[in-house]
Amino acid sequence: MCAGNVFKEGFLWGGALSANQCEGAYLKDGKGLSVADVLPGGMISEVINPPNGKFPSHEAIDFYHRYKEDIKLFAEMGFKCLRMSIAWTRIFPNGDDEFPNEEGLRFYDDVFNELLKYNIEPVVTLSHYEMPLNLVDKYGGWKNRKLIGFFEKYAKVVFERYKEKVKYWLTFNEMNTILHMTFIGGGITFKDEDNRREIIYQSIHNQFVANAKVTKLCHEINKDSLIGCMINYGCIYPMACRPLDSMEALEMDRKTLFFTDVLVRGYYPSYIKRFFKENNINIKLEEDDLSLIKENTVDYIGISYYMSRVASSNKEDKEMANGNIFKMLKNPYLEASEWGWQIDPVGLRYSLNTLYDRYQKPIFIVENGLGAIDTINEEGEINDDYRIGYLREHISALKEAISDGVDVIGYTSWGPIDIVSASTGELKKRYGFIYVDKDDDGNGTLERRKKKSFYWYKKVIESNGEILI
Ligand code: BG6
Repeated sequence: MCAGNVFKEGFLWGGALSANQCEGAYLKDGKGLSVADVLPGGMISEVINPPNGKFPSHEAIDFYHRYKEDIKLFAEMGFKCLRMSIAWTRIFPNGDDEFPNEEGLRFYDDVFNELLKYNIEPVVTLSHYEMPLNLVDKYGGWKNRKLIGFFEKYAKVVFERYKEKVKYWLTFNEMNTILHMTFIGGGITFKDEDNRREIIYQSIHNQFVANAKVTKLCHEINKDSLIGCMINYGCIYPMACRPLDSMEALEMDRKTLFFTDVLVRGYYPSYIKRFFKENNINIKLEEDDLSLIKENTVDYIGISYYMSRVASSNKEDKEMANGNIFKMLKNPYLEASEWGWQIDPVGLRYSLNTLYDRYQKPIFIVENGLGAIDTINEEGEINDDYRIGYLREHISALKEAISDGVDVIGYTSWGPIDIVSASTGELKKRYGFIYVDKDDDGNGTLERRKKKSFYWYKKVIESNGEILI
């Protein structure tokens, strides 16, 4: 166990949101359609037609009109930062517009001003599963190099506009998930005859170049800014001590670490070259791509951590568990949430150590939390002890990792206020410290109500992570 408090002064405690899951107002004030606006059943389904004619994210929790009330509540909990995203389609409704949309820019000016009024540092993701739909329809998404220019133009506008207000930026949310969710992550659709892997890795390459270009821009526009990449990361355990299980685990881990290897170290690792060769993947590079990537690596690593995974070489291992992106092998030693996501705080410590051993770069945990069904009792209270328990365990593991020597600069729990689930589109899957009166059928007053965890997290922040009881 670690003695004393390990969190440094200025540790960034807070919560994390994405525009498409909280704002609503999906076509208000000039906003265009994004990929998230046409996925009612959430990103797992990648279904374009609504099963029940409802799109929960179109109204979401109406953060667009209620951000003042919500930010006031975040301030009451003592938030030091709020991770949020800018909806690209509020700024460039079609992605390829000549001029930005002033009303969209003004909205984020107002939100940032409101945060700064309470000394809450905005941590801003440029693209959180909400690219303009027009860039998919007209250009085929990220497989097209033209997207690099559109993204760069968008980033330049927001870096210049908000340079006095925003210091912390993130480029693409969970960039590695494009491997599994090609539409929401990259706006990619396929034809039967396509070499799918080649298209996916070409799109990833285009995003790497875009990442490098905007990293460069960000530093030029504000030399004090810090810009990070963001991956969905959870360590991989071998199912047994069979050597081939460990080999599987290594390869599975590399599928994700490939992203940080390029974005943090600045070059394509040797193992991916073998993979490309054996899978007939030929990436089209332009002359300066590799030097750009090399010279413009990120300042910090943003991660979402929800679960660890298991790898096995044994075909008999078939029992599965759910995850936010895909199904995975069940780990018999772990409990799971109501949505079947396996809960593993030790895995957080393990993951942080793995990343820090490999890169020695600051890490920012920009997502972690428990999606659960909450009920209001007769006294009007929501006693979410299960959520408190989950967060307590994970923050304790984070403490251990910091004691191990890992440089973690902040922790933002996912969905500090209830929002629409990204994977399923549900509202009953709640992460918040603040309850929002809205159900899956769109009924409810949108009234906000503090849960028991609200008061608990307030104490955690007040004590800079020392008091977790
Ligand atoms: C992450 C996403 O994968 O998981 C978030 O970055 C998402 O957008 C979060 O909301 C939790 O997943 P879900 O499906 O429970 O909302």
